Amino acid sequence: MPPQHNVKHIKIAIVGAGSVGVTTAYALLLNGLAAEIVLIDIDKNRALGEVMDLSHAAHFAQARVRAGEYEDCAGSAAVIITAGVNQKPGQTRLDLVKTNYALFQDVVPKIAQHAPDTILVVATNPVDVLTHAAHQLSGFPVERVLGSGTAMDTTRFRHELGKYFGVNPRNVHAVIVGEHGDSQLAVWSLATISGMRLKDYCQQKGVEFSEAAMEECSKRTKEAAYEIIRRKGKTNYGVASVLVSILEPIITDADAIMTVSRVGTYGGVEDVALSMPCKLNRHGAHQDVPLLLSKSEQEALRQSALSIKEVLSSLTA
Ligand code: LAC
Repeated sequence: MPPQHNVKHIKIAIVGAGSVGVTTAYALLLNGLAAEIVLIDIDKNRALGEVMDLSHAAHFAQARVRAGEYEDCAGSAAVIITAGVNQKPGQTRLDLVKTNYALFQDVVPKIAQHAPDTILVVATNPVDVLTHAAHQLSGFPVERVLGSGTAMDTTRFRHELGKYFGVNPRNVHAVIVGEHGDSQLAVWSLATISGMRLKDYCQQKGVEFSEAAMEECSKRTKEAAYEIIRRKGKTNYGVASVLVSILEPIITDADAIMTVSRVGTYGGVEDVALSMPCKLNRHGAHQDVPLLLSKSEQEALRQSALSIKEVLSSLTA
């Protein structure tokens, strides 16, 4: 498959050779976005095995994949952190915080030491808490530390609404903001198809607008990971493609707007990482234009921020 982007000598490092890390490496390989992919894991044998396998796929792509150490993060356009334990059936993402925060205290300073100018992209859960941790532990400016956050949930939300309305998800403009987790918020007040709010779209289409159906779409979005984990024990394909979709505007300097997690002020709560639409380019994630939320949406965002802030304070207690 010829590379889709003429991006010479772009290096991407992925820390964590678990299912999300290696699926992301594979997706990146096929996408042709990077010329070099480095896979780093504490289990060097595992990293080498994955790279040996991936290199046979690299045969069909225009990229090199290799196993490396933290010093190999040097010169990376971005470093993706997927290392850590993931949810088991019945666990929430926040249940993982103690184990994965301890891992970040080890991993992030090593990345920052060898790649002081890179952009950190956090995928490990709880992603909002760990995006905040990565910002603190790296000392990087806020725009160079982002988390996949609700980019995953926005993708799922558009998928559910597209299925319901019978349109391509790319033509559904609707976002999930706040926590990548149970307190996430569907921004109904700004959801549109063909530029029309969903109620107007239904009216123009001559069908009844169903609040219950909309509620079902946001419920399925919020519960998607639990449902997948209950059946296959993990999620990997969706989040890997979301991570590549986040890398694309960074690598190509495209100023694309995506809901990613970043440290900021949300619902009046300062110094917390949550997801809002950010402009992504080679400098990182920028919150240029605050989202126009309704009063109830502002309050829901505030509650989401307070719940994450509580977890953050438990880490430093
Ligand atoms: C999910 C993981 C990435 O939502 O949190 O699939």
